[in-house]
Amino acid sequence: MQLVTNIQFKHIKATDTYAVRHPVLRKGLPISSCAFDRDEDNSTIHLGALLDNKLIGVLTLMRHATAMQLRGMAVLEPYQGQGVGKQLITKAEELIKTQNRAIIWMNARLIAIPFYEACGYHKEGSAFVLPYGETHYKMTKKQCG
Ligand SMILES: CC(C)(COP(=O)(O)OP(=O)(O)OC[C@H]1O[C@@H](n2cnc3c(N)ncnc32)[C@H](O)[C@@H]1OP(=O)(O)O)[C@@H](O)C(=O)NCCC(=O)NCCS
Repeated sequence: MQLVTNIQFKHIKATDTYAVRHPVLRKGLPISSCAFDRDEDNSTIHLGALLDNKLIGVLTLMRHATAMQLRGMAVLEPYQGQGVGKQLITKAEELIKTQNRAIIWMNARLIAIPFYEACGYHKEGSAFVLPYGETHYKMTKKQCG
């Protein structure tokens, strides 16, 4: 795998994420489908991966009492499989360490499970279906340090 390097990571606005959420996670659906509940909460963090100032990857972190939920993890198709997602999630984990949250969790699409496993996450419980008709598993990782 040829890795994409020289990525810059930046806090971005909720609406900035749509440039990646839309083609990757909501393809063919209205742009309004890119809005998540709690996107605009003060405690919600949107992180972008930029290559030569172009946004190529996004993720969102939503704060819960003792845990942090990862949502909207997506990398533009031409840049997938080249280490961008892993670098982005690693950056998010560094950030979460400063937020005193012991657990990170997400609802993972079936297709993304090998990616999250490669990043140290484990499936928990049984499969379930979320809106947009896809089978998901909850996956978690304990924060150490
Ligand atoms: C899932 C996604 C975010 C991963 O980002 P990415 O940049 O493509 O992944 P990376 O290249 O960083 O891969 C990191 C690791 O996961 C592994 N991996 C990624 N996809 C994999 C797959 N389909 N099968 C097996 N392993 C996979 C890689 O081999 C790599 O392992 P390594 O570090 O041991 O070499 C991206 O592919 C994507 O946007 N997919 C479509 C949207 C999606 O499904 N989002 C998740 C919603 S829950």
